[in-house]
Amino acid sequence: MNNFIFHNPTKLIFGKETISKLTTEIPLDKTILVTFGGGSVKKNGVYQQVTSALKEHTYHEFWGIEPNPSIETLREAIAAGKEHKCDFVLAVGGGSVIDGSKLIAAGIIYDGDAWELILKRDYTKGQTLPLGTVLTLPATGSEMNSGAVISNKATKEKFAFYSKHPKFSILDPQTTYTLPPFQVSCGLADTFVHVIEQYLTTTGQSPLMDRWAEGILQTIIEIAPQIKENQKEYETMATFMLSATMGLNGFISMGVTQDWSTHMIGHELTALHGLTHAHTLAIVLPGTMWVLKEEKGDKIVQFGQRVFGIEQKGTDKDSREEAIGTTINKTEQFFKSLGFKIKLSENNIGEQTIKEIEKRFNKREFKLGENESVDGAVARQILEHVK
Ligand code: NZQ
Ligand code: ZN
Repeated sequence: MNNFIFHNPTKLIFGKETISKLTTEIPLDKTILVTFGGGSVKKNGVYQQVTSALKEHTYHEFWGIEPNPSIETLREAIAAGKEHKCDFVLAVGGGSVIDGSKLIAAGIIYDGDAWELILKRDYTKGQTLPLGTVLTLPATGSEMNSGAVISNKATKEKFAFYSKHPKFSILDPQTTYTLPPFQVSCGLADTFVHVIEQYLTTTGQSPLMDRWAEGILQTIIEIAPQIKENQKEYETMATFMLSATMGLNGFISMGVTQDWSTHMIGHELTALHGLTHAHTLAIVLPGTMWVLKEEKGDKIVQFGQRVFGIEQKGTDKDSREEAIGTTINKTEQFFKSLGFKIKLSENNIGEQTIKEIEKRFNKREFKLGENESVDGAVARQILEHVK
């Protein structure tokens, strides 16, 4: 196990009717910028619960943070926060609103242009306003991590940066009842791939991290059909919501290597084609597994055995290859069962995009993955595999 520091200061407030806790979680002397997406919260009662909890507080609303939040929109929110002298940010929505609000919280007290903060990549030691969140979409883990992914419409780029963790996050699983089925599939797939990217490297690093990761993967596979059947069953949605948070809040990555190449390639597909985040992962992950099956082989076999119950028939090379192949096919089937079109051609993406992603990876001198083996050429191979 590698050395590590674990520090996650986010207070998680979980359960039915918990949005009312906003009243006491945010001090009355704060001036709050409350940030929202496109309006889903007005249709499911979340907006009403938030405003009623804040009726004694001073707050200003900012609407319109879009999926894959853009720097263009966030600059407007930062200007509004500066104008109203806000000293607290409350994000109400999915990962996009929360990610965008991490930048807003930093941008309101930053003198330059907020895109500069993204280019710094690591802003964990920078100055930010306190941020609270009310989550309505289980997927990103943004409610309990320091990451954010921001898009630039002008340059067709999408970059991750790291800021501060939210001070608190409120998760009421009842808010998820109104999610469109496609977003439910996206949340399940995103959670699945977050866990995979912290797990599917090499064996023997930490039995504890492995079993926590496998536990989340098994849980997602088990609840996915139940949720597709009935999205309003509280216990199942609560399990989904907590799985998504636990999938990317640092708990399963202590002391182990990680490989975020699938996400990095996926971000390019979103930046260039506007594809929904989790959909890009469902396309790319099987390609990553096929292309890196030599270096990840032992872990793929462990994953197949412990998560899908695939037993390797013998100790010879062919049996191993067969177990690896069956496991990757099972992974593809899982994404297909969620309704995703998992080939590039089915999504009208071809050689031009592969070429552009290869070029971008080379220009940024990317060497991703636990063995730093994923560069532009390997990204091309991965994408060619899922053509
Ligand atoms: O905008 P509104 O009207 O609220 O509608 C949203 C949006 O259209 C809707 N929605 C959310 N909650 C709802 C709801 N509709 C009905 N009922 C509800 N309860 O869902 C749509 C998608 O929302 P979005 O926030 O974009 O989805 P998600 O949570 O999947 O966030 C995606 C973004 O997070 C980034 C992605 O790259 C993408 O930009 N990620 C952030 C990460 C992080 N901070 O750690 C890690 C992830 O890997 C990911 O990259
Ligand atoms: Zn993700």
